[in-house]
Amino acid sequence: METLKEDHLMSRPLTGHGLGVEVRGVHLGGDLPDSVIETLRALWSEHAVLVVRDQQLDPPAFLRAAGIFGEILPQQLSKFSLPEYPLIGTISSRDLPVVDGKVHVRGENYHTDHSNFLEPPIGTMLHAIELPSYGGDTQFVDVRAAYDDLPEDLKPRIAGLRSTHVYESSRSPRKMAELTPEQRAATASSSQPLVIQHPTNHRPALYLNTGRMEGIEGMSEEEGYALINYLYEHATQPRYEYRHRWQAGDFVLWDNRSVMHQANADFDPAEYRYLYRLMLKGDALKGWQ
Ligand SMILES: [Fe+2]
Repeated sequence: METLKEDHLMSRPLTGHGLGVEVRGVHLGGDLPDSVIETLRALWSEHAVLVVRDQQLDPPAFLRAAGIFGEILPQQLSKFSLPEYPLIGTISSRDLPVVDGKVHVRGENYHTDHSNFLEPPIGTMLHAIELPSYGGDTQFVDVRAAYDDLPEDLKPRIAGLRSTHVYESSRSPRKMAELTPEQRAATASSSQPLVIQHPTNHRPALYLNTGRMEGIEGMSEEEGYALINYLYEHATQPRYEYRHRWQAGDFVLWDNRSVMHQANADFDPAEYRYLYRLMLKGDALKGWQ
């Protein structure tokens, strides 16, 4: 395996508001010095979306790259896994239904992954293997900055609130993957804080997922959804956004406690789009006091 010295690593911010960082000059599947690993972890913690360019990661290398940042979460939907590497999921345009000439992607609408788990994954990793000639961007919004900008009198009023996250909310704006009755019975529901504190950088952040939040605990349905919708509209403004336009070889890792993300189905369904995907195990979320 190739070893690169730290001085080969180059990074630059991807927005003027702190969300997203681009890294070049490292081979994530190689044997990296501790100093490079420390730098990558610190950049990810600060910027929440880590984009490493020009990677050609085969499945074992993709798994090694995951190990830099955490422990791998087994795949929930095994039908999308690589048969020889079941820890690696895939996103393929060939798995997607086409409705009225437009592909139907999983993950449209801003969300944070698996928020119905008691211990949601800390991060999600994608690696582009094949890309269409246009479209298919992934968008991110910074829910730390969105929290910081809330009216000061609102912050203490929402600090202790919680929401029950279920597999598919009764008001979900998107359709979740169909589950068998057995899978559905085994699906978790969890009470999560509305404002969380990041375990490593300690920043507060909004924790929102309109596809899974079943109102706000202790509030009427009307009042709870009005608050959720207000916070969601606020947090998804373009000023909190980084829009990732995929390039061949991109490796992208985002922090599910610092951003929401959404997929776009605006590519030609006749073209091939194929990415590796995996998630990193998490801990129970800590509420912001
Ligand atoms: Fe997602």
